[in-house]
Amino acid sequence: MRLEYIAHSAFAIDVNGRTILIDPFISQNPLANYDWENRNIRDILLTHSHGDHLGDAVEIAKRKHATITAVFELANYCASKGASVRGVNLGGKLNYEWGDAWFVPAQHSSSTPDGVYGGIAAGIILNINGTKIYHAGDTSLSAEMKLIKEVYKPEIALLPVGGFYTMGVDEAVIAAQLLGVGKVIPMHYNTFPAINVNIDSFKYKLETHGLEAIILKPGENIEL
Ligand code: NI
Ligand code: MN
Repeated sequence: MRLEYIAHSAFAIDVNGRTILIDPFISQNPLANYDWENRNIRDILLTHSHGDHLGDAVEIAKRKHATITAVFELANYCASKGASVRGVNLGGKLNYEWGDAWFVPAQHSSSTPDGVYGGIAAGIILNINGTKIYHAGDTSLSAEMKLIKEVYKPEIALLPVGGFYTMGVDEAVIAAQLLGVGKVIPMHYNTFPAINVNIDSFKYKLETHGLEAIILKPGENIEL
């Protein structure tokens, strides 16, 4: 499996010839350069309905005949724009051809660019070939992360570090410890001035706790 950092909170996972997108904020994203037209995109998972996460999901879903999975209200919104959807909610195990997923709590708000209520905000846990990845979405530091460690035991976490709208560097270091993950990929930083951080300080602070930060530049990927 290959995990690619598109930029901001957008990731692409390539597994067995399929591509799964998470929070595909691409065309309006100043850091992103991702050619989704030439990928076999089957599923698009959305953590919540803010424009920097919903992004190009509806257009991609329609053009690629992919399915959007999102919390019920956001799924209905995407369906109203013509996309195929799977409306879900927090807690249930979702089965896909490529693995399993769970939507889990995130401490954040959620409304669409049109101002429609987008349902509750979520994080997403993926289990692909036994590798568990936690995409935190937009969230503050939360005690939920302790439960995520106990129940799901993720190996790698994708955590927002930009502050202002989400937790920042120092809270993300604590989150990584609560989650019990060995590796963290930081996200949701340096896209806009409000969320500019010194990402080297995140790496340094994590390392003092024996944890590894994998700093991916937009377009870079890792094999998992
Ligand atoms: Ni948000
Ligand atoms: Mn956001």
